[in-house]
Amino acid sequence: MENVTTSPILDSAVKPYVRPRRLRATPALRELVRENRWSARQLVLPIFVREGISEPAPITSLPGQFQHTVESAVALGREAVEAGVGGLIVFGVPAEENKDELGSNAWAEECIANQALRALRAELGEDIVLMADTCLDEFTSHGHCGPLTESGDVDNDAAVACYQKVAVSQAEAGAQVVAPSGMMDGQVAAIRAALDEAGFDDVAILAYSAKFASAFYGPFRDAVGCELNGDRKSYQEDPANRREALYETELDIAEGADMVMVKPGSSYLDVLSDVAEVSPVPVAVYQVSGEYAMVAAAAERGWIDLERIVDEQLTSFVRAGADFILTYWALTAARF
Ligand code: PBG
Repeated sequence: MENVTTSPILDSAVKPYVRPRRLRATPALRELVRENRWSARQLVLPIFVREGISEPAPITSLPGQFQHTVESAVALGREAVEAGVGGLIVFGVPAEENKDELGSNAWAEECIANQALRALRAELGEDIVLMADTCLDEFTSHGHCGPLTESGDVDNDAAVACYQKVAVSQAEAGAQVVAPSGMMDGQVAAIRAALDEAGFDDVAILAYSAKFASAFYGPFRDAVGCELNGDRKSYQEDPANRREALYETELDIAEGADMVMVKPGSSYLDVLSDVAEVSPVPVAVYQVSGEYAMVAAAAERGWIDLERIVDEQLTSFVRAGADFILTYWALTAARF
């Protein structure tokens, strides 16, 4: 062989018989030596449930995704179970008249998210892990993740007090996992205390620990009808900060998070890898709405191969260290 690979990293004496290509020769060989793979069981499907509709409503910026009625959410949940999907995470979209400054509908026993959780739990039992996004932005009139101070900033401790009520109401409705996504300081410890106090010491917390102030959340705001004035930069992390993401994650673990999350996914694989390296608890990643929309749009135009791209992205999350993945592709991918 003429072209022997030389590497400045390896010892200079790379022998001509060293040929990594040998193990790439056939599909069977490649399968055998594959280092990372994902399975449907590791995927969590986000479900949007909207109050006041009688038919599922397509979400324009998330082709193939819908705002569901409670009934259609249950039907989707059943399909997910049949396809072997590992979990569901519920987002509520209340009617406009149920939004207020506090987002108080979020912890109403009969808010749309809690209705959906109850129905899903009753229909699906323990066949799939039922999670709830624990936040207020869908329910506040101003679209922020908590009540505002006089000056217009989000009031950290007031928000946390609301999250405690939301989490308890979600546990009562049947959520096995609550997932605080508001990025308020101290939210995990406070929610843990509130759950325990209410007798829900078996309900787990999936902390959105390293959640960045990302433009990739664009389509989600359509999905939940959130018209945000301004941005979330005073509570979500700066996309430039890698070290801070570890700090936030460590704080959440110290506060009692059962699982931690990095969000978004594709542009934050370095962060995911850092977190996975040190975390003593399971690590999730959220492939967010904008990531989904970009792939869906390009695939629609025939510019990329949807199945291969999604497989490659999911594999890359596992390769970076994710134990499970929240993705709008969950059902599609489970059926590959
Ligand atoms: C907020 C929340 C957001 C997402 C999940 N929970 C939006 C935000 O922080 O602005 C984004 C999910 C996505 O884009 O898919 N509670």
